Amino acid sequence: MSKTKKDKLTIPCAYQGGKSRIAKDIVDIFYKENEINEDTKFYDLCCGSGSVSIELINRGIKAENIKMLDKSVWGSFWQSISDGSFDINIFNTYINEIPKNVSEIQKHVKYIYSQPANIDTVYKFLILQASSFGSKAIWLKNKNEWCTSSFRSYWTPTKTSNRKSPVNPMMPMPNTLLERVKMILDKMDNIKAVCTDINDLSIPENNSIIYIDPPYQNTSGYGYDFNIIDYVHKLQQSAKINKMKIKVYVSEGRKLSENSHLISEGRKKGGISGDRNNNKINQEWLNVFD
Ligand SMILES: C[S@@+](CC[C@H](N)C(=O)[O-])C[C@H]1O[C@@H](n2cnc3c(N)ncnc32)[C@H](O)[C@@H]1O
Repeated sequence: MSKTKKDKLTIPCAYQGGKSRIAKDIVDIFYKENEINEDTKFYDLCCGSGSVSIELINRGIKAENIKMLDKSVWGSFWQSISDGSFDINIFNTYINEIPKNVSEIQKHVKYIYSQPANIDTVYKFLILQASSFGSKAIWLKNKNEWCTSSFRSYWTPTKTSNRKSPVNPMMPMPNTLLERVKMILDKMDNIKAVCTDINDLSIPENNSIIYIDPPYQNTSGYGYDFNIIDYVHKLQQSAKINKMKIKVYVSEGRKLSENSHLISEGRKKGGISGDRNNNKINQEWLNVFD
């Protein structure tokens, strides 16, 4: 039975490098190139906001067949969903504290940002990430301190601006964020998720589709990095030694493997002021390693 829009999960909020716009194309390729059955396991490595895992759940893949991993606070969020420690009442309290007056939200968000990051980290993170300007990654500088560039302000159009409608300081706004997280909690509590470095992953299970979405070459802003080609070789070696059947897919802004798919040619994106200069076109490739 196909899911109605109301039943469909959505990522909590946008994230730098997130794949929500192209997750459908990526999962279409998994289905086209693999015989997916009840035993197929999916690994969403460097899962961030979870776009690909969420698309898999929306297609009917069982949550228990999905393993998520990320080193950032997204990893802590997914781990808290997986181990049952995410407390929706605490999140509800944080959501209720956000001012109803949109023009006061940015000040409140900056206050959360200034508070020790080691207390209620995942709850604060969701609010900070939803408020991050350009959806840039929010990450921990150390256990107690957050790091980001800037937060969205409540923006109203000027006479000369291209955009004619206001821009909200949070995307999504607080109640939608709460609803999205509630649905995730309801439908994804059986996932297996860990907050750790990708190099800590133990040998993948047999019959696995491993999707990796690393920081793209020449991009920065997540706070950590690794060499993707070396990593894929390491995975393939350990699968071979242990006689495991795996298939690895890697997102990048360029072609990395002989067998690869150009998912999107990229587009020029102007800012709200309409300035289209100096904006690079970013291609999206899905590289396949058999
Ligand atoms: C392009 S983003 C992933 C976006 C994600 N697919 C989504 O749709 O939101 C890259 C991710 O790699 C994670 N990452 C970077 N280095 C890592 C490492 N060494 N181990 C685990 N995760 C890492 C970052 O935390 C970030 O979330």
